[in-house]
Amino acid sequence: MKTTDPKEETDEINFELSLRPKCLDDFIGQEKIKKNLDILIQAAKKRNETVEHMLFHGSSGLGKTTLSYLIANEMGKNIRITSGPAIEKVGDLGAILTNMEDGDILFIDEIHRLNKLIEEVLYPAMEDYALDIIVGKGPSARTIRLDLPKFTLIGATTRIDLISSPLLNRFGISQRLEFYNNEEIEYIIKRSSKILGLKIDSAGAKKISQSSRQTPRIANRLLKRVRDFAQVKGNGMIDENIVEKTFDYLEIDETGLEHTDRKILEIIIEKFNGGPVGVSTLAASLSEQEDTIEYVYEPYLLQLGFIERTSRGRKVTKLAYNHLRIECPKSNEDTLL
Ligand SMILES: Nc1ncnc2c1ncn2[C@@H]1O[C@H](COP(=O)(O)OP(=O)(O)O)[C@@H](O)[C@H]1O
Ligand SMILES: [Mg+2]
Repeated sequence: MKTTDPKEETDEINFELSLRPKCLDDFIGQEKIKKNLDILIQAAKKRNETVEHMLFHGSSGLGKTTLSYLIANEMGKNIRITSGPAIEKVGDLGAILTNMEDGDILFIDEIHRLNKLIEEVLYPAMEDYALDIIVGKGPSARTIRLDLPKFTLIGATTRIDLISSPLLNRFGISQRLEFYNNEEIEYIIKRSSKILGLKIDSAGAKKISQSSRQTPRIANRLLKRVRDFAQVKGNGMIDENIVEKTFDYLEIDETGLEHTDRKILEIIIEKFNGGPVGVSTLAASLSEQEDTIEYVYEPYLLQLGFIERTSRGRKVTKLAYNHLRIECPKSNEDTLL
């Protein structure tokens, strides 16, 4: 897997766990969300109530799972972790819900992948803390209603566009996580270095932050790669020079672009004259899935202003031509920026 793919790798889970902020004060950035959560948590505690059902959405690696753990921790309640695709049968969800206690948190990751039947069981559970189960079969079948503890559902998704409106409407709060600025990422890198006992100077942290695609998960992952490099090829100290060498080796440039990102831009430029080109055509040229292009590569290229979406497809901007040191044809100069 590429280093700058923000999706979580399985061998990364323990590493991430050690770096995950446990309280709101340690959670860097996302000031608006933090302010809202702080009020919500304090109010709920004061009234001795549960917090409202909440949805976190935004790109991978921005802190959705971290925030959910953190809320449970701040509330002093248990958290039960599952995901949309992991809940296969209605009974699976029933078992989870009936085993919870008042105030506990149920975290459903990738909630956009929940199947329809399960989603419908979730509606009364969220609204009335009730579980409707059907007993018996055929004409003698009847529904009995079980009371559930007053739990809080926290959903996380990278694809809010795929969440049905009845589900969306049942969340009291929906919060969008934004990309981080370089200073915030730099701070996260310094914090992680401290936890991991690494020696890093400011220039080194700054250099890693610039290539982290404004995403904490990638920042931590790059830090780990640089640490290994510093131990093997250097004296353990992380400075600008070691970071540069690691990135050269990984073929990551100073904006965090990797081979495939550059390839996307180059194909649009070389094969399609800078665009516009439709995603499906682009996907075919790259032998990649359309979804992968749209949800893994494109968000950051858009964020950098290197491509723009037009009604006729994707177009490479002058900024990207400059970045790749390719001369921008006159016909493309009237793009964004
Ligand atoms: N605001 C933050 N401050 C510090 N570290 C963060 C922050 N957000 C995320 N992280 C780090 O990035 C990693 C990925 O975050 P995570 O919550 O798993 O992202 P998501 O669930 O949105 O994919 C975590 O292990 C955590 O260490
Ligand atoms: Mg997550």
